[in-house]
Amino acid sequence: MIDLKNKITNKDYDNEFSKKLLEAEPIFDEIYKVCGNQMEYGCGSYLTHSQKYEYSIEMYPKQKLIFEKTTNVNSVLEIGTYMGHSLLLMLLANPNMHITCIDIDDKYAGKVTKYLQSIFLNSKIDFLKGNSLSVLPSITKKYDFFHVDGAHGNTTITREFIYCKKLSTTNDLKLIFDDVEVCNTLQGNIKSSFNIIESVTPNCVNKNSYLHIKLNPDSKENIKENRRFKFNVAISFIKEFPMRLLRFIIRKLNKN
Ligand SMILES: C[S@@+](CC[C@H](N)C(=O)[O-])C[C@H]1O[C@@H](n2cnc3c(N)ncnc32)[C@H](O)[C@@H]1O
Repeated sequence: MIDLKNKITNKDYDNEFSKKLLEAEPIFDEIYKVCGNQMEYGCGSYLTHSQKYEYSIEMYPKQKLIFEKTTNVNSVLEIGTYMGHSLLLMLLANPNMHITCIDIDDKYAGKVTKYLQSIFLNSKIDFLKGNSLSVLPSITKKYDFFHVDGAHGNTTITREFIYCKKLSTTNDLKLIFDDVEVCNTLQGNIKSSFNIIESVTPNCVNKNSYLHIKLNPDSKENIKENRRFKFNVAISFIKEFPMRLLRFIIRKLNKN
């Protein structure tokens, strides 16, 4: 984390988050060892470049955002855990947090969740292996916060969002979507269907986006909101269909 150490006196970096992150550098290093000194080249994470296990300061704003937005949060559902970097940031924010992690692949997430549980003894980390869309329907627990960072496709993320909405502890639905560029359509549909209290998208590479949505407590109004959302999803699907079809055909032609 040499880049961060060099900038720590700069006013943008001289804060509680940077201090906690630097203190956690041995944990960050140990994660790589726990994973057998391997990583999935090309797979994104909150702390590293996708080609090398090295701290990336270019993503500092999104790292700080997830840290700050989970500081007073007790329970989190995370979809997409990989090497546990976003998980580490949330545990630094609140070491007593209860987190359920879902990942389709346990090669890294299985080892890392066990390791982080052994470090953050006051936390509770549950790991569920499987496709989010198969696992989410079986979850009955409710959560204060959702981190959506699994499959990077608008359709899957839209379905994950619908599950998250059902699993929120209160009508204050708080989420972070990672790589927000891949779900711009969903973001638009959420914003045109629900009451948005706060929306934050930091300026950095592989941007994430925080949303605080106030769901209507009145059940009739809630049904109306959900209908409006479904309608908006259907309209955007129809609008985008020709482009999707074209991309599909081009991919097929390139393969042959
Ligand atoms: C970008 S990585 C997550 C990075 C992680 N949050 C971090 O900061 O280190 C995406 C992860 O989502 C998992 N994934 C992809 N599609 C999924 C799905 N449909 N259900 C559950 N996990 C999925 C992948 O196996 C991968 O580990």
